[in-house]
Amino acid sequence: MEYFALNNGIKMPMAGIGVFMMSPAEAEASVESALRSGVRLIDTANGYMNESGTGRGIRKSGVAREEIFLVTKLWPTVYEKETAIEETLERLGTDYIDLLFLHQPTDNWREGYKNIEKAYREGKVKAIGLSNFPEDLLQEAIDTMEIKPQVVQVEAHPYFPQTELKKILAETGMGLMAWYPLGHGDKNLVNEAALTELAEKYGKSNAQIILRWHIQSGNVVIPGSKNPDHIRDNFDIFDFELTDEDMAKIATVDKGVRYYTATPEIIAQYAQMELQPDL
Ligand SMILES: NC(=O)c1ccc[n+]([C@@H]2O[C@H](COP(=O)([O-])OP(=O)(O)OC[C@H]3O[C@@H](n4cnc5c(N)ncnc54)[C@H](OP(=O)(O)O)[C@@H]3O)[C@@H](O)[C@H]2O)c1
Repeated sequence: MEYFALNNGIKMPMAGIGVFMMSPAEAEASVESALRSGVRLIDTANGYMNESGTGRGIRKSGVAREEIFLVTKLWPTVYEKETAIEETLERLGTDYIDLLFLHQPTDNWREGYKNIEKAYREGKVKAIGLSNFPEDLLQEAIDTMEIKPQVVQVEAHPYFPQTELKKILAETGMGLMAWYPLGHGDKNLVNEAALTELAEKYGKSNAQIILRWHIQSGNVVIPGSKNPDHIRDNFDIFDFELTDEDMAKIATVDKGVRYYTATPEIIAQYAQMELQPDL
C-alpha cells in the first residue's frame, strides 16, 4: 500500500472501496469482502443511506477499527443539525470518523463547515474535506476557515484528470480522492486502446492500469464494486510502475469531459432532498 500524508500528519491509504448505489446489505457484503482482501479505506456517505450496512461489514470482517480509514460525508439537509455527526457515528457504529466531507456545495455549507470543525476539535473527526466544491468555494474555505480542508473528493479519471484543480491542491498540500475513478465502469473508457496496450505490457487488466495511473498521479482511489474478484484486483496495483512514457500515453485519452456536471438547479434540489433511514 502507498499512503498520502495529510497536512496534519495523518496517513491515508491511497486505495480503498466506495459503496455508492449499494443497498445496506450490498454495502455490508462489499465492505466485509474488501477488508478481508486487505483494503483499509472505506468511503460511504449519509446520502448513500448505507452507513449502517457499512458499519456491519466492518464489524463482520474482524479487522480492528484503528486499522481502518473510514470516510463518510454529511448531507446538506443535516449540515446545520447539531446532532448530525453523533447520528452518523451511531449509524456507523464507531466513535470517530477518519475523514468527514461536506458532500455538496449548497448555500448552507459554511454552517456545515463550522459543524465539522467542531467535531474535529472534539476528536470525533480526524480530518475534514470538501466534495464537489467548485474552485472558488474551495478557495474561500482555504482562505477563511480556521481548520483548513485536507482533502477534496471530486470526479476524476483519464477522461477528466482535474488538471486545473490539481494546481490549487499542489499549492496547499491538499489530497485528491477520485470518485468515478473507473468512469463508473464506462466501457468506452475502460477499453481505450492505450489502456489495453499497457494492460498487455504489464499483464494487468485495463481497470488496474487506470487505477495505477491514478496512484502515480497522486490520486486516492475508491472504486466501487460488488464483485469480490474485482475488489481484489482493484487493490492489486502496488506491484508494478508505469513509466513516464506510459503516463504520457494515458494523458492522451483526456477529453476534458466529465460524466456529471452540477447545475445550480441540481444543487438547490440537494438542499431539499431528505434522507431516508438506512436499515
Ligand atoms: N462525492 C460524490 O459525490 C461521489 C459521487 C459518485 C461516487 N462517489 C464515490 O466514488 C466511488 C466510486 O464510484 P462508482 O462506484 O460510482 O464508479 P467507479 O468506481 O468508477 O466504477 C464502478 C463500476 O466499475 C465496475 N468495476 C469495478 N472494478 C472493476 C474491475 N476491476 N474491472 C471491471 N469493472 C470494474 C463496477 O462493477 P462491478 O460491481 O461488477 O465490479 C461498477 O460498475 C463510489 O462508490 C463513492 O464512494 C462519490
